Amino acid sequence: MDIQYDEIGIWSEVKLAIIREYASAYSKIMEAKRQDGLRRLHWIYIDAYAGPGFHISKTSGELVKGSPLIALDTNPPFHGYHFIDADASRADQLHELAGPRADVHVYSEDCNTVLLRDVFPKARFEEYGRALCLLDPYNINLTWEVIEAAGKSGTIEIFVNFMIMDINRNALRRDPEKSLPLKMEQLTRLWGDESWKQAGYSSVGNLFGYSEKVSNEEFAEAFRRRLVEKAGFKYVPAPMPMKTKSNSTIYYLYFASQKPAAAHIVKDIFDKYRKRQGL
Ligand SMILES: C[S@@+](CC[C@H](N)C(=O)[O-])C[C@H]1O[C@@H](n2cnc3c(N)ncnc32)[C@H](O)[C@@H]1O
Repeated sequence: MDIQYDEIGIWSEVKLAIIREYASAYSKIMEAKRQDGLRRLHWIYIDAYAGPGFHISKTSGELVKGSPLIALDTNPPFHGYHFIDADASRADQLHELAGPRADVHVYSEDCNTVLLRDVFPKARFEEYGRALCLLDPYNINLTWEVIEAAGKSGTIEIFVNFMIMDINRNALRRDPEKSLPLKMEQLTRLWGDESWKQAGYSSVGNLFGYSEKVSNEEFAEAFRRRLVEKAGFKYVPAPMPMKTKSNSTIYYLYFASQKPAAAHIVKDIFDKYRKRQGL
C-alpha cells in the first residue's frame, strides 16, 4: 500500500507522549475499578481523526507511532478501539496494521457523523460503558455537537486539538473584513454558535473603528469555559499550548472530563511537558 506519512514537528510528538501517558493511567484506573467490584465496566478508546498509524519525525527522521498504535500498546488494554479516518487509504492502512483483532473497529467516514451515530452510543453509563476520545483534526473541522454529546454523556473524556493558528489566519483575522466566510462558518460549527465573535474581539473599538482582537490566551480561556458551561464537562484544566520554535502557538490541547482525579492527572502531565518545552 502506497501511504504518504505526515512529517510531524516536536509539538505533535509531545501530544503523542501526553496521549500515551494518560491512556495508560486511564486504563489502569478503570481496571482497578473493575477489580474492585464493577465487573461490568468496559472502556473503549476512540480516535476520531486517526491518521495512518505512523508519522515521520521531523526531529529524528524516524518513523514514529501515531495515536491509534499508541492506544493499541496500552496496558492494561482498552476493551475496544474505534479508529476513524475520512481518507479511505488511511483507514485501510489502519485495518492492515490492526490485523485480525476483533476489538479494533475502523471507519472511513466523516467522524462528526460516525461518532454520534455509531461510536458514542457504545459508552452508555447504564451499560457501564466509558470512553477516552481523541479529537485531533488538522484544521477547523470538528463540530460542536460532537463535543457537547461527549460532555452530556457523562462517560466520555476527550482530548481536543483546538487549531488556533488556522483560526487566527482564516476565521478570526485582526481585521474581521479579511476573515474567510467559509472558515468563519467552520468556526461557528466548532464553537456551536456565533458567540465566538464576541469572545474573539473586545467590545471596545480601536483607532481604526473595528474591535480589537483578543489575545490567544483569552480566546482559549473562552473556549475552555464553554466546555464547562455549555458542554457540561465538570473539569477542564487550562489547555496545553503547542508552540513552534519561534514561539507561535499552533494549537491548544484541551482535556475535558467529569472526574477531578482525571483532570488532576492530566494537569500534572501538561505541567511536566510545559516545563520541558520551557513554557
Ligand atoms: C492530524 S491527523 C491525525 C493524527 C493522529 N491523531 C495522530 O496523532 O497520530 C488528521 C487525520 O484526520 C483525517 N480527517 C480529516 N478530516 C476528517 C473527518 N472529517 N473525519 C475523520 N477523519 C478526518 C485526515 O485524513 C488525517 O489523517
